[in-house]
Amino acid sequence: MDITARLQRLDPTLCLYFEGDWKMPAEGESPGKFLSFNDAGLECETGELLYSFIRMLKPDHVLETGTHVGIGASYMGKALQDNEKGHLDTVEFLPEIHLRACERIYGAMKLAGIVTCHLGDVANFNPYIGEGRSSDSPWQYQMILLDTEPQTRFAELIKFMPFLEPGGYVFIHDLGRHMAQVQAVHPDHPETPYWPWGPLPQQIKDWVKDGQLRPFHFENPRGLTGFYKPSSQDYKWV
Ligand SMILES: C[S@@+](CC[C@H](N)C(=O)[O-])C[C@H]1O[C@@H](n2cnc3c(N)ncnc32)[C@H](O)[C@@H]1O
Repeated sequence: MDITARLQRLDPTLCLYFEGDWKMPAEGESPGKFLSFNDAGLECETGELLYSFIRMLKPDHVLETGTHVGIGASYMGKALQDNEKGHLDTVEFLPEIHLRACERIYGAMKLAGIVTCHLGDVANFNPYIGEGRSSDSPWQYQMILLDTEPQTRFAELIKFMPFLEPGGYVFIHDLGRHMAQVQAVHPDHPETPYWPWGPLPQQIKDWVKDGQLRPFHFENPRGLTGFYKPSSQDYKWV
């Protein structure tokens, strides 16, 4: 059974909609469109990609910024559970939304001990704090998904880059191959160039130019950009 159907069986409140027009597919209808459980969470296909990615990577530590009601955390948590190893930290700052995620993750999905739903602002989230870690032995993540608000995700990449293990991957949801640098000024938001993302920070440009991050892209409806952090074991292209 595919992972999306498994999540629906565990939590029958999860209904499928076509991404974009939000109509429910008719029985057996499969017109090649993307699907979602809601308009804030990951598309099901993106969830399935991250599920498979984690099954392949077998990470010890994964981080998600922006839990919402736990769609991404359900896909990634189930992959860790199926791997029989690994842990996901997921961070949400709205208490009511965090509570709904906890109900889903610890209740229907049965992911207690595998996923920790943290309540708080990602800007204050400290990967040093928590069971089994300290400032002397911080956790290094092998995979990170940045999925809060577009205007904070570049800053999150900068914040969490030191906690990404070499050979690890970061994904930024909703970000296309243009890196959101296509519209200089939005008429309703003249104060923020490239609204809502803002300009790409020089630090990130330098990491890509210096080869410390290698970007890659998936053309799903909302966009998904990944970065690979090279490992010293990688072949040197000399
Ligand atoms: C796009 S939704 C995340 C969807 C989620 N990853 C999923 O797949 O279901 C963004 C969430 O990030 C939360 N958020 C936004 N800014 C945040 C911040 N600075 N710290 C923590 N949570 C934040 C919002 O409240 C919202 O629930």
